[in-house]
Amino acid sequence: MVVETQADFSRKIILLTGATGYIGGRLLKALEQQGHAIRCLARRPEFLRAKVHPTTQIVKADCLEPESLPAAMEDVDTAYYLVHSMGSAGRFEEEDRQAARNFATAARAAGVRRIIYLGGLGEGRQDLSAHLRSRQEVADLLRASGIPVVEFRASIVIGSGSLSFEMIRALVQRLPVMICPRWVTVKAQPIAVEDVIEYLVKALELPAEGAMYEIGGTDQVSYGQIMQEYARQCGLRRWMISVPVLTPRLSSLWLGLVTPVYARVGRKLIDSLRNPTLVRNCAALEIFKIRPMGLKEAIARALVNEDHEFAQTRWSDALSSSGRSPTWGGVHLGTRIVDSRTTQVSAPPSAAFTPIRRIGGATGWYFGDFLWQLRGALDLLVGGVGLRRGRRDPDNLSAGDTLDFWRVEAIEPDRLLRLAAQMKLPGRAWLQFEVEPNRDGSVIRQTAVFDPAGLGGLIYWYALYPIHKWIFGGMLREIGETAMKDHDNCA
Ligand SMILES: NC(=O)c1ccc[n+]([C@@H]2O[C@H](COP(=O)([O-])OP(=O)(O)OC[C@H]3O[C@@H](n4cnc5c(N)ncnc54)[C@H](OP(=O)(O)O)[C@@H]3O)[C@@H](O)[C@H]2O)c1
Repeated sequence: MVVETQADFSRKIILLTGATGYIGGRLLKALEQQGHAIRCLARRPEFLRAKVHPTTQIVKADCLEPESLPAAMEDVDTAYYLVHSMGSAGRFEEEDRQAARNFATAARAAGVRRIIYLGGLGEGRQDLSAHLRSRQEVADLLRASGIPVVEFRASIVIGSGSLSFEMIRALVQRLPVMICPRWVTVKAQPIAVEDVIEYLVKALELPAEGAMYEIGGTDQVSYGQIMQEYARQCGLRRWMISVPVLTPRLSSLWLGLVTPVYARVGRKLIDSLRNPTLVRNCAALEIFKIRPMGLKEAIARALVNEDHEFAQTRWSDALSSSGRSPTWGGVHLGTRIVDSRTTQVSAPPSAAFTPIRRIGGATGWYFGDFLWQLRGALDLLVGGVGLRRGRRDPDNLSAGDTLDFWRVEAIEPDRLLRLAAQMKLPGRAWLQFEVEPNRDGSVIRQTAVFDPAGLGGLIYWYALYPIHKWIFGGMLREIGETAMKDHDNCA
């Protein structure tokens, strides 16, 4: 048995599958916070190692390889089944069926007391899409083991990283005018990912009996309404022209053109959009104290959480682990475009950071100042704040300070400065400087991040990219040289 860390065996072990996935990854954090003894079953433990708490075990196993499962099941009390083969290149229904059968057999042999599973809503098994039918078939296969199964059924889960939410977001972001097939009028009952996770955690407190709960947020809305609400919160205007003829199959080809990243998985998912996914049975509201939020709040929370997670990113790690080589225009991470560069300076971090904390105002922007002045004047012309605000103090900055047409979002002495753009832009932008010590002095990383608002934002970014690249490159070079000059003068 490949156990990566030691847990406290006096507590009951919870087996978590799908921890590298969207729901499982979030559930892992919630269970760890509650202090449960957790064992993750993962095909690729290397993807989890850095993310788990030191007491969480990781066992390498694959639900399609029955011989790998008994080791993962040893001493397990409750198992979460969050395995999903949507990303597989093969036939996902067959893979999901086989995986569920193998898992159920191994769980029964090991004496697992209960299985908790999250599947999908949808009525009338015959008329369901292959994807939704398969989600319900998996629950039946788990139940066939004789182990009590708590099955939750959910519609679209709202949260950044959730495939269905990302598909909707990609369509809204890229298409100012949407030719809407009939499926955009089909009703769903979206639920925030936080609420889903709370249901999954609270299920541990239920008696070990089988049950099925339909869960959803407070709003029953069409896919079109979800898109309009997302567009509204992002400040985008979208026109929807309904056409009765487009089938989900045609939509999937269209999706491939508009959002190639999601095309393979999205095609399987889009077929499900013809089925309403509404809560018909309200037992979950009676059994649990959870009161799920509505669509507006769920989208707002998703956007805020995303900003928060993004702000925590260490760019050196993120860009190297994204596996993407830098392309012209920057690297796409989620909806954002990230353009990052570094320079080595032979000076300690305190000296390397000095020109950074003095940036803007009377000091200027170190390179192409006339272009910064021009940008400020243009901003004033279109009703923006321009450069006239300058800075409060020539030497020091604090979070919340205004700085020309930026605002200081975060500052850590001698390590980090993040500025959020307040000029008029078709999107949101940040400029970040990070300083790290190394053997030869320090490395300064400068990162420009742009979150384009729709197509206009993308055109803006790529049209101005050559100028931005020149200015930001020149700025970083000058910052490095200023730091070294000042350091030499002081030495
Ligand atoms: N996300 C939503 O919007 C949503 C909505 C309603 C219901 N749900 C339900 O929630 C559950 C989890 O969905 P998700 O969105 O979190 O899926 P996901 O992000 O695609 O994650 C799927 C997980 O399954 C693992 N997996 C796949 N095949 C496996 C195998 N043979 N052996 C072991 N692990 C395997 C994957 O591991 P690898 O990293 O090794 O591939 C991954 O961790 C599903 O049942 C889904 O129907 C999700």
